Amino acid sequence: MIGNSQETVYLRALNMSDLERTLQWHNDPELYKTLGGTFRPVSRSTEEEWLRNVISASPRNVNLAICARDGDEHIGNLYLRDIDWVSRRCELHLLIGAKKHQSRGFGKSAIRLIKDYAFGELGLRRLYLEVLADNAVAVQVYEKCGFQKEGCLRSHVFKAGTFKDVLLMGLVAETNPQ
Ligand SMILES: CC(C)(COP(=O)(O)OP(=O)(O)OC[C@H]1O[C@@H](n2cnc3c(N)ncnc32)[C@H](O)[C@@H]1OP(=O)(O)O)[C@@H](O)C(=O)NCCC(=O)NCCS
Repeated sequence: MIGNSQETVYLRALNMSDLERTLQWHNDPELYKTLGGTFRPVSRSTEEEWLRNVISASPRNVNLAICARDGDEHIGNLYLRDIDWVSRRCELHLLIGAKKHQSRGFGKSAIRLIKDYAFGELGLRRLYLEVLADNAVAVQVYEKCGFQKEGCLRSHVFKAGTFKDVLLMGLVAETNPQ
């Protein structure tokens, strides 16, 4: 478990009992409007396979459930992907699954925890991510957590009938304001 008493969420390992939630989120077209990935309805068996893969031990990935400290509800997922142990960097993915849990500070809380873990425990130096340029809430959240805009991938994603820009954002440990 990754957490502390100042934060409103904690992070724990994903497990097979999280299947119903992840299946629901992956089948939610509304959620995908703000995600870079393409929405595709997912069957229960495909989701089971995905989750089994995600929870298996891997030196290059850390896949976590975000839970509210108050009530222990599993409200989202956070992944560190493609960990490069030489360059000490990895890609961050984040989602708060249910709309009712969004904009309540949980996303910022999860990022603060993963920054401490990634830099303090794993010894990483840089986190980076991709975000749709028109996802104003996410861009704000990442900037408030110390990420900087590093570039723009123009017309990178086709979504809702248009090609959208994607921002590359990054955070380097030494310049991290904490
Ligand atoms: C993006 C996401 C991770 C943010 O997490 P969250 O828990 O909802 O965000 P928080 O409550 O921690 O912070 C929201 C911040 O957004 C800002 N915000 C809210 N509405 C906004 C708007 N319309 N425009 C710009 N900024 C806005 C606020 O400044 C707020 O910060 P504050 O509380 O300091 O005022 C979450 O909403 C989510 O998972 N959304 C769906 C999937 C997604 O977009 N994931 C990101 C993929 S890169």
